[in-house]
Amino acid sequence: MKELEARIKEDGRVLGADILKVDSFLNHQIDPKLMQAMGAEFARLFKDQDITKVITVEASGIAPAVMAGLSLGVPVVFARKSKSRILSDDAYTADVYSYTKQRSNQIRIDKRFLSAADNVLLIDDFLANGQALLGMKALADEAGATIVGAGIVIEKSFQPGRQAAIEAGLTNIHSLAKIAAFEDGQVIFDDLD
Ligand code: G4P
Ligand code: NA
Ligand code: NA
Repeated sequence: MKELEARIKEDGRVLGADILKVDSFLNHQIDPKLMQAMGAEFARLFKDQDITKVITVEASGIAPAVMAGLSLGVPVVFARKSKSRILSDDAYTADVYSYTKQRSNQIRIDKRFLSAADNVLLIDDFLANGQALLGMKALADEAGATIVGAGIVIEKSFQPGRQAAIEAGLTNIHSLAKIAAFEDGQVIFDDLD
């Protein structure tokens, strides 16, 4: 998505070897117009798939997911993160390890909001190691829901997330920007599929 790539070039900052800071429009301050355009693009990419629900994980997935849900005309459910390991009968749960933060979180979705009748689109802000996507897949699988695909705002294709997701059986993964590499603090984009 050209608009997103331009914004990343303009406002993104490369930190160290592999982190892109985009907190001026995505991860802290949010640009609603850009989010809306991204939501419309997700809706275009996943049209005609009978999506009944958009699923994401708090916090940074919520803005793009809400805009995708708005464009698709379906509800959005965000998995909540909790550090506690309290088992609950009324929620689907999965463990997600964050390489960036070097800690594990449990993510959970109340059983009232996801069922075997759902065709879900998974949305997230970054695809890096793929752990969040695998966690969302585990929740959907536990619910018996059908996953129609995954929509990612920014994929770092030099990291193993897409491969991990494919190996776990996820198909139909579309990213709005794919980063091939960071070179001298500059972002090198990959072609979109
Ligand atoms: P994964 O979800 O693909 O496995 O990635 P990883 O464990 O590496 O990422 C952990 C957290 O760091 C995630 O946020 C992810 O979105 C974020 N992240 C990964 N790479 C980048 C990057 O290059 N730039 C930025 N800004 N974030 C990155 P989270 O813990 O779920 O936090 P939240 O932002 O949703 O609250
Ligand atoms: Na994030
Ligand atoms: Na995220």
